[in-house]
Amino acid sequence: MKEFKQSQLLKSLPKQFFASLVEKVGKAAAEGHDIINLGQGNPDQPTPDHIVAKLKEAAENPLNHKYSPFRGNSYLKEAAAEFYKREYGVVLDPEKEVAVLFGGKAGLVEIPVCLMDPGDTLLVPDPGYPDYWSGAAIARAHMAVMPLKEENGFLPDFSEIPKSTAKAAKLMFLNYPNNPTGAVADLSFFEDTVQFAGENDICVVHDFAYGAIGFDGEKPVSFLQAKGSKDVGIEIYTLSKTYNMAGWRVGFAVGNRDVIEAINLLQDHLYVSLFGAVQEAASSALLDSQECVEGMVEMYESRRDAFVQGLKNIGWDVASPKGSFFAWLKVPEGYTSEEFSDLLLKEAKVAVAPGIGFGEWGEGYVRAGLLTSEERLIEAAERIKKVGLFVKKD
Ligand SMILES: Cc1ncc(COP(=O)(O)O)c(C=O)c1O
Repeated sequence: MKEFKQSQLLKSLPKQFFASLVEKVGKAAAEGHDIINLGQGNPDQPTPDHIVAKLKEAAENPLNHKYSPFRGNSYLKEAAAEFYKREYGVVLDPEKEVAVLFGGKAGLVEIPVCLMDPGDTLLVPDPGYPDYWSGAAIARAHMAVMPLKEENGFLPDFSEIPKSTAKAAKLMFLNYPNNPTGAVADLSFFEDTVQFAGENDICVVHDFAYGAIGFDGEKPVSFLQAKGSKDVGIEIYTLSKTYNMAGWRVGFAVGNRDVIEAINLLQDHLYVSLFGAVQEAASSALLDSQECVEGMVEMYESRRDAFVQGLKNIGWDVASPKGSFFAWLKVPEGYTSEEFSDLLLKEAKVAVAPGIGFGEWGEGYVRAGLLTSEERLIEAAERIKKVGLFVKKD
């Protein structure tokens, strides 16, 4: 058989760090161990019934068996605009300021290709969601990291970005509620972002994947709520987490019309839009009762409380996440994040994601997903106690 070599572009793609975690967990489970897997970010609950029912009904409609309009059905873009008006008081032109996406990930990877030339600079948060690096590699962009430090509430400090880097940067990714740290941003941070981006001609892409998940009665702020935000950027919204629809692949980009047009143009060449029945069901999710979302946030909040309390009870001094469904936990001294994750998997049969997988500034932490029942989360804390690294101080 002939051997076909991969292109230089494919060879330049970042290594999928978490593939090795999946492999380790899979191996331990195959050996018969009962693993409590807090290492991944896949919602554990099903999509609400009324959304599934809408999909079933819409799947019967022969109109949906044809190609969809290239840029998605108007009713879905109108539903997205209605959603932003209702949830955030943000007014959007459905045709010019909304682009339909095959999930947030697709948009995040497409945007660098839309706006950057090889060698251009992209600012990314560190620690951060690794798919930002994928978009950078495909666009052959140069990445400059913005450290997210605990002392700054895991927000980037724009004053620390060297002037030359700020001037060179074309694009910036941000993400609040944050994966992996669980931090949230307030309106004043987004106002500072608009100012910094305006001064340096940077396009901001705010990844709002966990937009629905804020705790202690605090609703996460949309970047588009900041004055002037549409002049400098966009926000990416996904239905994956808000409505437990990760498998459905549906989301949208909203904001600056030039950027929306650029995304639509690229997508005109890559795909025809989503299955019409998915578009109909997604519109229902956005427009119907949001009780399911309230219930989901309550569930994550009580899981968070149970898990954090469980860890405090064994003497692990952890901070409570303010949003997202992740807890960002400090690794005890003497271990790297990877060594500590390996230890927890081996000795406690608990899987967590090592912080180094999210970038250099993630070292010293592990990420635990609140994606199993309260009972299992409490059991995870008890199993971790047996590892003997934590001592409860009174
Ligand atoms: C920070 C962040 N952004 C984007 C996504 C992508 O979500 P989706 O592609 O399912 O919309 C995820 C998924 O885990 C995420 O954690």
